[in-house]
Parts: sequence; structure tokens; C-alpha cells
Amino acid sequence: MRCGSIDDDDVQLPRGGCHALVEGGHGTADGLRGVQDAALRHPRARGGAQVGERGGVVGQQRDAGDVQGVEHLVDDVPSPVAGRSHHHLRHGEHARGQVVREHDVVPLLAAYGRDVAGAVQIYDPDRPGESGSPHANPLGDGGVGRLLRGVRAQPLGNAPVTGKSSLAGVQEKVVVARLDGARHQVHDGYPSTHIIKLTPPEHPTLIFDEEYGTRIACLLGLTDRPAWPADFDGVPGLVIERYDRSDGGRIHQEGFNQVLGARGDQKYQAIGGQVSLRRIAQVFAARGDGAGLGRLLDQLTVAVAVGNLDWHAKNVSLLHPLDGPAELAPAYDVVALRHQPNDGAMALAVNGRYAHASLTVDDIAAEARSWGVRDAGTRVLDLLERVRAVAAEEEPDERAHPVVAGQIRGFVANLLGGRPAG
Ligand SMILES: Nc1ncnc2c1ncn2[C@@H]1O[C@H](COP(=O)(O)OP(=O)(O)O)[C@@H](O)[C@H]1O
Ligand SMILES: [Mg+2]
Repeated sequence: MRCGSIDDDDVQLPRGGCHALVEGGHGTADGLRGVQDAALRHPRARGGAQVGERGGVVGQQRDAGDVQGVEHLVDDVPSPVAGRSHHHLRHGEHARGQVVREHDVVPLLAAYGRDVAGAVQIYDPDRPGESGSPHANPLGDGGVGRLLRGVRAQPLGNAPVTGKSSLAGVQEKVVVARLDGARHQVHDGYPSTHIIKLTPPEHPTLIFDEEYGTRIACLLGLTDRPAWPADFDGVPGLVIERYDRSDGGRIHQEGFNQVLGARGDQKYQAIGGQVSLRRIAQVFAARGDGAGLGRLLDQLTVAVAVGNLDWHAKNVSLLHPLDGPAELAPAYDVVALRHQPNDGAMALAVNGRYAHASLTVDDIAAEARSWGVRDAGTRVLDLLERVRAVAAEEEPDERAHPVVAGQIRGFVANLLGGRPAG
């Protein structure tokens, strides 16, 4: 499986295996402002977007007209009081002279909903100047670097006027389309194929920690979409292949906040109790999707093994392939977070408990048995053995946090030894 080697011409990287080490310096993200670090601190403060109206939304999929559902397509709108910014507010500043306010999700999507997660496209066909001609322009040498440097002014790498992409999440990122081997900027809803995350200045290891987590998940078969670090004209970025794009088209997906009717920070079970692993699992159980339950268990096992505390309901998604039934989306946003300053709590309780350090194989297995998985204990142990082998073999990028690999190996050794993750 291709889990780190790349087909990227932005940088010269060694091919083969699952290592993708950037040659040519680390660079700095000059001028980039810090991103929201909600994922690192587990904010429990509310501040989720409120949808005030339904107008102006045109959808092609069943959830597009559901105002509660559309919220997941944009960011989590952290509270300005907490001192964090929100790039859709900045979207508003550039919205073709129109004021699109931070919390007005529907107007935001009307302006920026042409290229979102999944296959939904949201726009107002009656809007003056609405273009019906999606297109992509080659970014050329240094083009991605320019987008990354300008992400504050042009979130997601959106071009003024014709940039219409939105994506949920808290890390700053840009979207691009790879066409004929070259990166392109997308306009008027042309489907992007890759997400490129930036290094938050205050968390310089984050994208490299994510690369390691994603590489482990990929080598275990939890995703077939690699993520690799690349250097864009001096700016490091994590390039992530989208799993909701195929042959230039779109595959629909919804995050589990949307599936379960939860909103914003309710993605954390402790906020409102709207989401839980059991409720997520029930979606698969109700469909008789035993394979989906097994894969959900695998994602849980890896979240615990890696210390991915932020495995919340918007980091688990349901994919709707055109040619088959809905299925659990591949693992994504797999990041070791125990070494960061946070409360050490899992976003979703496991067997009724949040404290990652206290979780055991028995907790994971008991959680999965409550979903109706019969061979849960064996499956968890088998996968943990494979995590042990992969983590022993694989080293993180040298820019990852120095304790990440050791912590993961320690968690796995503890779990396999019948002890709490520690
Ligand atoms: N590989 C991918 N393919 C398709 N969609 C993705 C992929 N990775 C992330 N997404 C979508 O983008 C959103 C934000 O990405 P994520 O990696 O979770 O970023 P953040 O670290 O900001 O939370 C996700 O909630 C999901 O909807
Ligand atoms: Mg996320």
C-alpha cells in the first residue's frame, strides 16, 4: 500500500516504502498567523454556529436542505471570546463586497459552498454573477507556497471572487486539484483533490505528528489515502489525498455530527451528550453492516493506541459511494495528542470513560461488545499487535514531536500487557 511515498513534483522525495522525508530544509511559515488550537486543548466552550435561515441553499444531496446538517460543512466557529479567530469570518471580509457574518452558516455556504466535503454543492443560482463554469488554473512554481503564505487573507487558498471552497476543521489548510501532475487552484466549484495543512507556528510539530499517525493508519489498512510532508517554496505543508474525490468527480460524505444531528462542539460527547461511540455504531448495526462495525472498532483501537484524543464525531465520517451502500469513511486526522497541553480526555467515551491514560484493552472490547461486535477482544489484540510492529518499524519525520513515537510504543506495550494505556 502506498502510505507515504508520493507522486508529488513540488519537492524531490525518496520514493518507495512509507517514508517521505523532505529534502531541502524546513522553512518557516512567515506571516502565517496561528491557527485555532481547539484540537490541542479540547475546548469545551460553546461557540458553535447557529443557522438562522434556510434561504439561498441549493443542494443535490439529501442533507443539503437540512440547515442543521449543513453546518458541518464549514468550520466550528470558535468563540471570539476565547481569542481564536475563524477563517470564515475572514471569508466574509472578502465575499465580493457582501458582508457574510461569522455565524451565518447559510450565507457562508451560499458564498463558499461550491467545493465542500463530500458531493454537496451549495450555491444560489439566482445570485448575480454566479458562474456556471468551474475551472482550475495551474499554480506554477511556488504557487502552493503563495497560497499557504496567504491563507489568512484567502482561507483554503480561495481566489478572490472565484474561490468557493469550504471545509470543516480547525487547522488552517488550502485545497488544490492535481491535474496532469500539476497542482491547480480551483475556481467556481471545480473539485479539489488534495488538502494541504499548514504548520501552526505555535504547534510546529503538529502536521508531522499527523503524518506519522496517518502513516500508521495507512499501513494498518485503515485508509488508503496517504499524507506526506512537502516543502512549498520554504513553507512546509502536509499534503492529504482526498477520499471523497474520484476521477475528477465527487463522492458524498457526511461527518457523524451531521449523521447524528449534533452541532458544533457537540462533536465532543461531554458537550451535550449528543454523540457517542454507541450512537455512531448504531448507524452501522442498524444496517447490518458488521464490516463497518469492525472498521469502527479498528479506528477506535488506533485512536487509543496513538493517543488521538481528538477523535470526535467530526473526525469520523460516513461515505456514500455512488455504486454501493454507505460505509464508514477511511480514517483521517489521526494525530497523537497526549504530549500536548490538554486534559488527556478522549473526545468520545470508551466504555463510559474518557481518561486516555486509564483505558485498557478490556475497555475497548467492552465498548465494541456493546455495539454488538462479538469477537471484539481478539480483534483489538490482533490489531494492537500490528500497531506494535508498524510503530517499531516506522520512525516519524524528524520534525515530529520527539516524544510521539516513544509514547505510542509505550501505550501499545501497556495495552498489550493488560495494563492501562498509561
Ligand atoms: N482525506 C480526506 N478526504 C476527504 N475529506 C477529508 C479528508 N481529510 C479530512 N477531510 C474532511 O475535511 C475536514 C477537515 O479535515 P481534518 O483533517 O479533520 O482537519 P482539522 O485538523 O482541521 O480538523 C474533515 O472533517 C473531513 O470532512
Ligand atoms: Mg478534524
